[in-house]
Amino acid sequence: MQALCYDHTGPAQEVLNLRDRPKPQPQAGEVLVRVAVSGANPSDAKTRQGTRGPAPFPLIIPNSDGAGRIEAVGKGVDPARIGERVWLWNAAFGRPFGTAADYIALPSEQAAPLPDAATYAEGACLGIPALTAHRCLLADGPVTGLDVLVTGGAGAVGAYAIQMAKLSGARRVIATTSGGAKAEHALDMGADAVVNYRKGDAAQAILAATEGRGVDRIVEVEFGGNLEVTRKVLKQNGIIAAYGSMGDPEPQLPFYPMMFAAQTLRMVLVYLLPPEARAQGITALNGWLAAGALRHPVALQVPLAEGWRAHEACESNDRIGAALIDVAEGV
Ligand SMILES: NC(=O)c1ccc[n+]([C@@H]2O[C@H](COP(=O)([O-])OP(=O)(O)OC[C@H]3O[C@@H](n4cnc5c(N)ncnc54)[C@H](OP(=O)(O)O)[C@@H]3O)[C@@H](O)[C@H]2O)c1
Repeated sequence: MQALCYDHTGPAQEVLNLRDRPKPQPQAGEVLVRVAVSGANPSDAKTRQGTRGPAPFPLIIPNSDGAGRIEAVGKGVDPARIGERVWLWNAAFGRPFGTAADYIALPSEQAAPLPDAATYAEGACLGIPALTAHRCLLADGPVTGLDVLVTGGAGAVGAYAIQMAKLSGARRVIATTSGGAKAEHALDMGADAVVNYRKGDAAQAILAATEGRGVDRIVEVEFGGNLEVTRKVLKQNGIIAAYGSMGDPEPQLPFYPMMFAAQTLRMVLVYLLPPEARAQGITALNGWLAAGALRHPVALQVPLAEGWRAHEACESNDRIGAALIDVAEGV
């Protein structure tokens, strides 16, 4: 089979190469998936780039997200799954061989059914961004009637968080962006108001957008970098669910101001979702997919041989939407 591979970390175009690899065999508890579309995310790019240290395996096929059709099953897996359309999660987490290949064998539970209403490209958008958005938004209970702030509202995670907050009955959904096309994108995703976090008094603008109430929940892309603003707009008993803090990786926590406002900081790592939370996320997502209720913006979709471009896009701040790799047609 053809697979995009790297055996050392470095720039995408330099280290990612197409290779002939043996087709995997599904082991006990696994399914063999014919991959139609692979999804690249910043996390896949960081591992390949070496941001997280040396390559964790001698040979790596990148990408955690993807979608395709089950072709065979290992011992203990219901053969009725053969032929099922699926979307994949955690396919490159703690494993050498991810989705940027003709085939992948992985534990059966990591292949979630893909509703007929959803395309493979849509299925390949979900594993990291949509499950992260779902967890950040809903881990602490429903948001019906609540005011929600989504920072980085034009990001892959942010765009899903906006849509899910609206679908879940939030009162007001405010997004922050750096303006321009990103502001328009966040509005297009359903945000009630967009605030430019780089200009003027962002906290004041967020408060104004909630008629002075502030927000109950924050889905946070940059915890440390935004804390000066978010602590001014978070209500008492409010919750920040943070999935990133790249700009300020070791922020100082204002413990007593947050404690006296009884606020909560929740850290989210999509790779380590508790099983019941992951099951809830998959059920909710598949319900929305079946109803055609979610949009899945795509920034670029390239052939497998040009998969390095999807990784480069994940490193660029200009990308709006998913970075997808077409692996096979007619799956
Ligand atoms: N913990 C987890 O489980 C988890 C899951 C998914 C992603 N992540 C991480 O989260 C980050 C975002 O992922 P993604 O796929 O959504 O990336 P993305 O599509 O590139 O979106 C990130 C967005 O955040 C915006 N942004 C950056 N700094 C900001 C700030 N201070 N305030 C508001 N917006 C800001 C960026 O635009 P501007 O710079 O123009 O503002 C961009 O639109 C990555 O570092 C990724 O590795 C973590």
